[in-house]
Amino acid sequence: MSSNADKKHRSLREQDPEVADWLLREDTRQSSTLTLIASENHCSSAVREACSSRITDKYAEGYPSRRYYGGCEVADAIEELARARAMKLFAATDANVQPHSGSTANLAAMVALAGPNGRILGMALKAGGHLTHGHSKSHSGMLFAVHQYGVRAGDGLIDLDEVRSLAKEHQPHVIIAGGSSYPRAIDYAAFAAIAKEVGARLMADIAHPAGLIAAGVMPSPVGVADVVTMTTHKTLRGPRGGMILGTKDTQKQIQSAVFPGAQGGPLMHQIAGKAVAFGEALQPSFRDYQIRVRDNAATLAQHLREHGLDIVTGGTDSHIVLVDLRKSGVTGAAIEERALVAGLSVNKNAVPNDPLPPMVTSGLRLGTPAATTRGMGRAEMLKLGDVILGLVRGEDPERHRKTVAALCEEFRLP
Ligand SMILES: Cc1ncc(COP(=O)(O)O)c(C=O)c1O
Repeated sequence: MSSNADKKHRSLREQDPEVADWLLREDTRQSSTLTLIASENHCSSAVREACSSRITDKYAEGYPSRRYYGGCEVADAIEELARARAMKLFAATDANVQPHSGSTANLAAMVALAGPNGRILGMALKAGGHLTHGHSKSHSGMLFAVHQYGVRAGDGLIDLDEVRSLAKEHQPHVIIAGGSSYPRAIDYAAFAAIAKEVGARLMADIAHPAGLIAAGVMPSPVGVADVVTMTTHKTLRGPRGGMILGTKDTQKQIQSAVFPGAQGGPLMHQIAGKAVAFGEALQPSFRDYQIRVRDNAATLAQHLREHGLDIVTGGTDSHIVLVDLRKSGVTGAAIEERALVAGLSVNKNAVPNDPLPPMVTSGLRLGTPAATTRGMGRAEMLKLGDVILGLVRGEDPERHRKTVAALCEEFRLP
């Protein structure tokens, strides 16, 4: 028999002040500092409410109407709602909203398209790709025969001739288009043509630009690529998670590659959060937000460039600004550390052909989704650009703390 104490509702603070304190500290950290990390954003309180709802308790292995557990009628409705909204948002004919993360989505999509031990061709991590595109330390690099393309040394852009010649030489089952620090739009039609030439299937990983693509601010691979994978928590501004868009042809393969292939029960609370976020992204204001995300990145890139910093590819088409610090004589790690003192979260990042190791790097990856969610625009990008320029010049980071603190005060978290 359960005791009264078990039945009584106790707040997190009452029950576990230690965890409550840490979470409060994270609230304070987020509200009193600014994130310019390209892969982070601030989702709405409605998304957070859905993610902390009671449906976290529910097991729903399987897919709507085909579950391995009883009591899934609400889970079915929520998953179908999330799928319908996702398909509308991206004009897709199939959506799998179950992947726990972008990495799981990629693994499932690669297994579905290439099969175990299949051949894949993806962008190298050091050129701007992602670990899950075949890096040797990722399962993708262990389970598949991997070849990788880079970017051109001169302009930092994808060299489609290199992609084509590698594809012809290695005959991959899957070609992956997409990356985690590639700031430019990708020509998905050109990738699809190469895939067709060699009989490969095209997987577009839009984890980063998903929100910009959903809003029509960047070109979409939907209808061009065989499968599109993404995260839901970056520019898309949803809860942490992954998603795969496919077609009626790939639906069954993708489904079984996600469950039971890569996962057990779906995280229904996260799927509820995805449904809320997709509903938000279907509103006209989401397009305005994404236009500001892109314009803010362009402003930041131009400002840094005008003041002497090298920007990989010379600018950006997206939310990402990749700064090459080699000429400035500082490392990405040093600027990341100085920025933290000034109240800015940024991340060190390899630049193409970086001579330094990944924990040091010669680059800095900046991104505008989170600052734009807080309402910042051109004037604030110029201020933040000046802070970064000061940090690169070696000015005392403490000197810039006030500027960042004032911006945090003026532009609150949602
Ligand atoms: C291009 C790309 N794909 C996949 C992922 C993996 O996403 P997750 O961290 O949710 O596993 C990321 C994450 O940064 C990414 O940038």
